Amino acid sequence: MLRRMTALSAVVLCAGKGTRMKSKKAKVLHAILGKPLCAYPLKRALELGATSVVPVVGHQAESVEKEVRALFPQAPLTFALQREQRGTADAVRSAEAALKGFSGRVLILYGDVPLLRKETLASLLAAHDAAGGVLAMVTTVLEDPTGYGRVLREGGRVTRVVEQKDASPEQRAVKECNAGIYSVDAAFLWKALADIKPNNAQGEYYLTDLVELAAKQGPVGTVVADATETAGVNDKVELAARAKVLQRRINDAHMRAGVTLHDPDTTFIEEDVVVGSDSEVGPGVSLTAGSVIGEGVVIGPGCVVSASTVADGSVLKPYSVLEEAKVGVRNVIGPFARLRPGTELAEDVHLGNFVETKKARIGKGSKANHLTYLGDARIGAGCNIGAGTITCNYDGVNKSLTELGDGVFIGSDTQLVAPVQVGDGAYVGAGTTVTKNVPPGSLAVSRAPQVTKEGWVAAKKARRAAKGG
Ligand code: UD1
Ligand code: CA
Repeated sequence: MLRRMTALSAVVLCAGKGTRMKSKKAKVLHAILGKPLCAYPLKRALELGATSVVPVVGHQAESVEKEVRALFPQAPLTFALQREQRGTADAVRSAEAALKGFSGRVLILYGDVPLLRKETLASLLAAHDAAGGVLAMVTTVLEDPTGYGRVLREGGRVTRVVEQKDASPEQRAVKECNAGIYSVDAAFLWKALADIKPNNAQGEYYLTDLVELAAKQGPVGTVVADATETAGVNDKVELAARAKVLQRRINDAHMRAGVTLHDPDTTFIEEDVVVGSDSEVGPGVSLTAGSVIGEGVVIGPGCVVSASTVADGSVLKPYSVLEEAKVGVRNVIGPFARLRPGTELAEDVHLGNFVETKKARIGKGSKANHLTYLGDARIGAGCNIGAGTITCNYDGVNKSLTELGDGVFIGSDTQLVAPVQVGDGAYVGAGTTVTKNVPPGSLAVSRAPQVTKEGWVAAKKARRAAKGG
């Protein structure tokens, strides 16, 4: 019982170069579903309650650290540097100073293994508890185990791991493989790491030597995981394959929770997106982290919703793009609308095709159905904004505010030169350039008077005929 209370920390190996990625970017920074590979194991460790997480960085240490810190600004991360890649044991040993004084269990994860589920890691900790020894490990059974360390057992008990290059033909026939994921008692870990020698085919410090040392102290706990979970990423083909599995896993969970995905193969929903039941998502849609979609929302084909909220019953027609926007209930948006950061729409708002908004607060029931730019705007309830309306919010130096009261009617092709206000119930005639405030209930028009010359076309033709002969 007491062991359940054991403190948890984690070491995540992120030092690798990833030569086969053929990229200038460090391997662990390559993304699947919007997040770098290493973000997944780091997040799992934090979800399990690790009070201290140590990413071990090496290749492109600075950019890896920078990106990871930006992703987890609040997390208890301490970065450790492995200068030279001398093997997995050496990599973990680089984390010792960062975990000085920590007593409890250390979870060891790979930064390039993104699909390991929280539940599997919880089972690993439970297996560690149940076995009562100093180490537990994740294993996986592979039809073709080539390249992996083999898990050797005697009478069912794990005795050690042998690497492919050091294995006898008999050992190579073993199909249970080491996934490289462990839970280790901290006190044992640091002592044992100091004893590991690079006496092997590769001349490396093998972390797997821990297993033999641990087996001498007590039973080694094991969890057998599915190979899809323990698979790493070595090249871009594998990157795409892992992304597909993650996409499927996330999409399945949404469908089981009552969301209709019309084509899950082309729907990209990142982790940490909420979608209410009875919502429908069309093909080619991306929903990025932090987005919250209500119930009964319809998202048409090709929409991109980034860190935005869309409340119940709203419709995003095809190819609408939302970024840090808040859409209220029963809105109708798009097709081809672009809602940029700071857009806040009340209920029953309609924004049609080729409407762009930025830092725009729009009140209940207001409509802008065609070809309009509303930036730095506060718009009241029940307004009608005609086609081609533009808030001229930028004078080359400053951004200024356009304010419309309730029930304002803006005729088509109007320019609102900010800062400017249009009062409740006012009308602005089509084609007007509004440069002065319009008081409530009044009409503003600025237009050159129309001139009509009857018979002008026939007269012109006659003149031309007379000249040309
Ligand atoms: C390791 C295991 C093997 C297991 C396999 C699962 C050892 C000795 N072997 O083999 O039993 O079946 O993982 O994938 O541990 N890394 C560093 N610094 C280093 C060396 C490695 O950060 O000095 C990182 C790598 O970037 C990688 C991970 O550790 O993310 C695994 O290293 P790798 O060399 O690929 O180990 P394997 O040979 O695959
Ligand atoms: Ca590997």
